[in-house]
Amino acid sequence: MISKKMQDALNGQVNAELYSAYLYLSMESYFKSKNMNGFANWMRVQTQEEMSHVMKFYDFIDERGGRILLKAIEGPPTEWDSPLAVFEAVYEHEQKVTGLINDLVDLAIAEKDHATHSFLQWFVNEQVEEESSADQVVQQLKMIENAPGGIFLFDRELGQRVFTPPAAEGE
Ligand code: FEO
Repeated sequence: MISKKMQDALNGQVNAELYSAYLYLSMESYFKSKNMNGFANWMRVQTQEEMSHVMKFYDFIDERGGRILLKAIEGPPTEWDSPLAVFEAVYEHEQKVTGLINDLVDLAIAEKDHATHSFLQWFVNEQVEEESSADQVVQQLKMIENAPGGIFLFDRELGQRVFTPPAAEGE
């Protein structure tokens, strides 16, 4: 059985992961409005990843005999100055999420909740990948900033990204 304090904190993370999905959906819509369909695809895949994170927390709370309590999701921004500004915002957001996961780990340790601590390790590792993939796009966008046609080719590359459900990654 999960403690009330841990349950509340995990419910907070359900909301944070839903907000992440909401943010990336909004970014997808921004790119669609600019006819940048590869960038939009990257965001769609990112949203699917976030929804899989939501469901991992959701199922874990349930499995531990807790109650999932959904709260209002904050509205995300809808406009950015450039593709680079979008991905800088992604990178910044993922660093914030890493901080939230680390806080949950700290709480699990303080509560001596070994099951939750073990469950959270998947997210600790996932955040390394989340930050790295966002930063990689930021760096690539900086490189092609002044290259004519660079954005067009990069859009095609990002259009190749596909969603891999976590269960299929051999976790
Ligand atoms: Fe759910 Fe992007 O971390």
